[in-house]
Amino acid sequence: MRYRYSIISTWLLLGICCMLLNTNTADAQRSSDSAMYAFVNHLISQMTIDEKIGQLNLLTSDMAVTGPSMRKQYIEDIKAGRCGGIFNAYGPAYVRHLQSLAVDSTRLHIPLLFGFDVIHGHKTIFPIPLAMACSWDTSAIAHAARIAATEASADGLNWVFSPMVDIARDPRWGRVAEGAGEDPYLGSLIARAFVRGYQSNNLADSQTVMACVKHFALYGAVEAGREYNIVDMSRRRMFEDYLPPYHAAIEAGAGSVMSAFNEINGIPATANHWLLTNLLRHKWHFKGFVVTDYNAIPELINHGIAADTFQASKLAFQAGAEMDMQGLAYIHTLKQLVEQGQISMDALDRAVRDVLIAKYRLGLFEDPYNRINEDRAQREIMSPDKLRFAREMARESIVLLKNENYLLPLKKTGTIAVIGPLANDQRDMIGCWSGAGDWHKAVSILEGIREAVGNRAKILYALGANITDDTAMLRRLNAYGADIHPSSQTPQQLIQEAVATARKADVVVLCLGESEAMSGEAASRADIHIPENQRELMKALYATGKPIVLVLSNGRPLVLTWENAHIPAILETWFLGTEAGHAIADVLFGDYNPSGKLTMSFPYAVGQIPVYYNHKNTGRPAMPGVKWTSKYLDIPNDPLYPFGYGLSYTHFRYSSIRLDRQEIMPGDVLHVRVDVTNDGDRDGIEIVQLYIHDRVADVTQPVKQLKAFQRIYLKKGETRTVEFSLTAKDLQIYDRHMHLGAEPGVFDVYVGGNSRDVQSASFTLQ
Ligand code: BGC
Repeated sequence: MRYRYSIISTWLLLGICCMLLNTNTADAQRSSDSAMYAFVNHLISQMTIDEKIGQLNLLTSDMAVTGPSMRKQYIEDIKAGRCGGIFNAYGPAYVRHLQSLAVDSTRLHIPLLFGFDVIHGHKTIFPIPLAMACSWDTSAIAHAARIAATEASADGLNWVFSPMVDIARDPRWGRVAEGAGEDPYLGSLIARAFVRGYQSNNLADSQTVMACVKHFALYGAVEAGREYNIVDMSRRRMFEDYLPPYHAAIEAGAGSVMSAFNEINGIPATANHWLLTNLLRHKWHFKGFVVTDYNAIPELINHGIAADTFQASKLAFQAGAEMDMQGLAYIHTLKQLVEQGQISMDALDRAVRDVLIAKYRLGLFEDPYNRINEDRAQREIMSPDKLRFAREMARESIVLLKNENYLLPLKKTGTIAVIGPLANDQRDMIGCWSGAGDWHKAVSILEGIREAVGNRAKILYALGANITDDTAMLRRLNAYGADIHPSSQTPQQLIQEAVATARKADVVVLCLGESEAMSGEAASRADIHIPENQRELMKALYATGKPIVLVLSNGRPLVLTWENAHIPAILETWFLGTEAGHAIADVLFGDYNPSGKLTMSFPYAVGQIPVYYNHKNTGRPAMPGVKWTSKYLDIPNDPLYPFGYGLSYTHFRYSSIRLDRQEIMPGDVLHVRVDVTNDGDRDGIEIVQLYIHDRVADVTQPVKQLKAFQRIYLKKGETRTVEFSLTAKDLQIYDRHMHLGAEPGVFDVYVGGNSRDVQSASFTLQ
């Protein structure tokens, strides 16, 4: 122990002296980097091969289960130096205990990384990422990540497996809940916001955590939306649509990257040298370390590119996967591979160096316990300011999908029937991947409504239906860890009771959707309607003639064709986290005017999937009534609700677009102006979106691409001129040789409140 601190202080002193000698910050940075490299290299020079391999082994604790395998003797591994990091362990006491085993029992006293899936908050749970994305409020998202970092670090964690930045166009895939939706531009801004929030600008600060960008790469494009499935994709599509958010997160300084489970064109990501080395290291200059996903190295055998663990390890290691998450492959094979000369000691040292540098940057060599802080945990976790912000974030994430005759907002008077399996429900409100979240502290919709109206209105409640009566699905969900208990009443009894309740009310707030266990990992659904038994309840209530407000809780876009045709008001609330019920009541009663806009298209029918706004035109674009054009016989091409869509309780009117010039040269800035008027009767927020279309290019281009947006607050009656600036950089495309550049020609520019309803103009790039 004494030894450890003495080497550290010598090197730190050296670093500080160098810093003092250099006045300029770049020089200071270089010299502190050289002190870091000197320290880490010196440490590596003292390590045995077993100690080195131990640093590349990441093990789960038994506190939480996030994958198929478990190693009971992880404590022994820590003490023996066979482990560089632990995940699924949190809480000051436990983390302190594990850390002390590493620093006190091992020869070189190297501290552990403590990782966890902090995906949308740690203890204060924010809306699922797909929901937060619908706020389009990148500073709020960064702030949510900052709060998550503050809580997670107080709880002992120094590493989060987030952000998940996989672009997704297939709502059957359950993991769309964890990402930002379908758009590369917005997805990139959100990726950056998360990294900024987690890491701040000094990783050594005890209130930061290191980000881990995942799942590298293209996991969101798994075939048929089926979990862990393959991906087959052109380079063009990768670079145009799927890779930008990962790149943005890396440019923002993310300290680590997690390789994906899926294969990419025949080579699994975890063994993909082109991906993990050529692209990530050489092209993008990534300086952190790469960790595999859970057990992904042995799974290379199932993929069919390795005959045994030796071959799997060799392929993964040579591709650039440096830390093995719970696969126990490196720990069992790397030594022999090095001894046989199949992997060089230099390559092993490089991987170990990347991991140790991360620990150094996190300040762990200086103080391995720097984040574990009982007092801070006590003070900070779920403090009132954090809950307040969680409520704000939650209401910004809600999307109003329909509001016929301004049924919403409701008055806090009369009799309101709150009905449905998600009404009096705390568990589901915090959504998937809320590992450390305590659902007992979540606010249900019913509770939120009761609190909001006090004794001014009468609130009735009925369950109405189970989450699902599909017994096979229920059995599966419960076997995978859900805890769903169907009511002892028959479905008919439940419906009768609900109908009787509705009859006594002036309005029905109907809370339907999915259980949180129906989205997230290993939760693909082929049928993405609201479960059938819930739809039966809805139809029975519809038949009463009572006005219905449908409040949806779910982790993916659903097919809502019937609902849209029949139900007058529909509110998409996703899973909003700890403050769900409060936020929903705020919107239901108009204490907050909804402002969220969808970041994933809602299909008209499952058969349309993938359906996304930035599609290509084809040689025969759809023309109604013309046979030989690209369309379906039975349904429209357009989604039910498009990307960028969301209503408000007020109305925003857009003027036509004004361009300050018709032609621009490559160095010019084009100003695009539009007047937006709030011509409704309440104040509100509008998300003004700008899209472009390159009419004729070297390769075919999407019909629209989001290039900018502004989130503006307008008082009722107010008009604001919104101004966007476009430069040639915004017009760049990958040509047929995959060179990025802007081509001269005519461009359409569209501005509107969603990707469908827009004003247009055009200009020429000379
Ligand atoms: C998931 C990752 C997660 C990891 C650790 C995997 O199964 O794909 O997203 O970070 O488990 O829990």
